[in-house]
Amino acid sequence: MKNILIPEHRILSRLKELAREIDRDFAGREPVLVCNLKGAFMVMADLVRFVTIPVRTDFVCFTSYNGAESSGSVQKRLDVSEDIAGKPVIIVEDIIDTGLTVRALTDSLKEHAPSGISVLSLLYRKGAKPRYGGFEIGDSFVYGYGLDYEGRYRQMRDVLILQNNEKD
Ligand code: IMP
Ligand code: MG
Repeated sequence: MKNILIPEHRILSRLKELAREIDRDFAGREPVLVCNLKGAFMVMADLVRFVTIPVRTDFVCFTSYNGAESSGSVQKRLDVSEDIAGKPVIIVEDIIDTGLTVRALTDSLKEHAPSGISVLSLLYRKGAKPRYGGFEIGDSFVYGYGLDYEGRYRQMRDVLILQNNEKD
C-alpha cells in the first residue's frame, strides 16, 4: 500500500520556488549545479527545467547508505568532470539526514577551488536545513522520487513513507 508523504504536485511547486530563488541569487554568475547520484537525479531533472538563468550541470556520486541504515562513512564513486575553479557551485541533493554525505562532498569540492558552495536538498531532517531546503521531514524512512529503498522504487512520482511493518 502506498503511503504518500509528499505528492508530486507539491514537490514540483516547491522546486519551482527554489528555482526562482536560484534565478535571483545567481543572476549573471552561471552556477554549476552538481547533482549527487543516484538519489538526486529526479530533483536535478525537474529543478534545471525550472531555472531560467544559464547554468552548467555536473554529476557526482558520494554515498553513505546501505539499505535503510547509515553506514557512517562516505565513499566517492564519481567526481566532478566540469572545471569548477572560481565558479559558484550548488550541490543538488535528495535528502540530508545526518549531514555526513553533504559535508564530505563539500570538503571534496573545495579542493577544486570553486568561488562558493551552496546546498539544495529536496528533503532534510530537523536541524539539517541547507541554504535551499525543500521540505523538513521527520525520522521515518522515505523513498520514491529518486530515493530508493534497497535499490528499488526510485521511479515512484511521489515521496512515500515506509511503514514500520514493511521495513521489518
Ligand atoms: P546523511 O549522510 O546522513 O546526511 O545521509 C544522506 C544520504 O542518506 C542521502 O543522500 C540518501 O541517499 C540517504 N538517506 C537518508 N535518509 C534516507 C531515507 O529516508 N530514504 C532514502 N535514502 C535516505
Ligand atoms: Mg543520496
